[in-house]
Amino acid sequence: MRQMLSIQGSWSNRWIFILAAMGSSVGLGNIWMFPVMTGQHGGGAFILIYLLCMLLVAVPIMMAEVVIGRHARQNPVNAIEDAAVSAGASKRWRFVGILAILSGFLIFSYYSVVAGWVLHYLVAMITGQLNGLGVEQTSSFFNALLADSGMLLLWHSLFVLLVIWVLGQGIERGLDRAMRFLMPVLFLMLFMLLGFALTTGEFVSATEYLFNVHPQDISWDSVLIALGHSFFTLALGVGVIMAYSAYMGKSDAITPTVIAVGVFDTLVALLIGLVVVTVVMAAQMELRAGPGLLFVTLPVAFVQLPGGQVFGFLFFLLAAVAALTSAISLLEPATAWVTERFKWSRARAVLLLGVLAWGLGVAALFSLGQLSDLRLLGVSIFDLIDTTTILFLPMGGIAVALLAGWVLDKEMLLSELALSSATLAALWLWLLRFIAPAAVGLIFVMNLYNALYS
Ligand code: PHE
Repeated sequence: MRQMLSIQGSWSNRWIFILAAMGSSVGLGNIWMFPVMTGQHGGGAFILIYLLCMLLVAVPIMMAEVVIGRHARQNPVNAIEDAAVSAGASKRWRFVGILAILSGFLIFSYYSVVAGWVLHYLVAMITGQLNGLGVEQTSSFFNALLADSGMLLLWHSLFVLLVIWVLGQGIERGLDRAMRFLMPVLFLMLFMLLGFALTTGEFVSATEYLFNVHPQDISWDSVLIALGHSFFTLALGVGVIMAYSAYMGKSDAITPTVIAVGVFDTLVALLIGLVVVTVVMAAQMELRAGPGLLFVTLPVAFVQLPGGQVFGFLFFLLAAVAALTSAISLLEPATAWVTERFKWSRARAVLLLGVLAWGLGVAALFSLGQLSDLRLLGVSIFDLIDTTTILFLPMGGIAVALLAGWVLDKEMLLSELALSSATLAALWLWLLRFIAPAAVGLIFVMNLYNALYS
């Protein structure tokens, strides 16, 4: 049954929802993918395409997630089931919710292994272990870390414990408070790093790299990459936004809130991009996307610059906070589901889930070192979880778009959304029915192709 409030609690105000959704969006993807992706796929032209993808695909899906979550005030599985049943559709739609929370849970398990690497670098930076190291030595440092399962286990466990601790305390005392504290820390780090970037003399070149328009670098690939990234960065298709929306105020306007999240996420991504590109350029190094950027190129670049050790530390602090707020969000949908499904306390639910995800993460981290010979379906456990999730994620997105566009009761959707213009409402439904499923379908095909052939 629909309730006035979620049994879990609620955000203290609309801004905390925005902060929490931003915390979920701004993650490692903003750091190691977005800046270089932008530079290599047309700069300003790519940003424009990216914004269009957001507006036409990601934002409409996010609005649907928010509407469904807030209407039901329950976890994604129940929220979807309730909405489907009250529209006279099958209860089985709940499997979409199950798929979503399962992907969130799976992403969490290996995301927290990677977050553990960030913590290790945080300490390495401040203790000066990386000072004076070149690319080769830093690569060896990174490879040695990947092979050191004991060390990875330590950091991974610590990180998972931190997430359990936050989530276990509930919405008001846990999530809400954590976001109030962590997000300002993230912004503070970002502004200090921007100040540092301005002193390096390469800031202008970095703006040129990111913002100059190079239409010749745009291809169909660029469009797919922009689409996929907008979807991943806004944390869609994994139940996170739906779960967070269950704690939202009834009278908060959904559309401006969702647009604010999209705009702020893009702004933060661009500012992080400016820092990353400036620092790498100032050290005259090559920009390449992926973990190598965060764990080899950037540390080498930072320590070469005056004051770089301190700012390198601040950079890894920013990365750690970004990873933490994303990870917290990834475990919330499953936590809400276990709590509501089995009538457990949150502490008990998150402990069980945390331990399970931790175990999966341990298998993933051993598969990088001691168990690197172990292959399941031809890949390591780490890659298997990664690949599964990048396929599940768009599936969840397509299903949510189809559900909201074709199945659910229009009156319920539109009264929850409370758009002032009927044209906008019709446009939203049209995007959900046709454009979003087709576009996210393309992301699925691209991810499947990459999983099979690269
Ligand atoms: N948006 C996060 C990032 O960019 C990852 C994430 C995906 C977080 C899905 C939550 C849900 O790293």
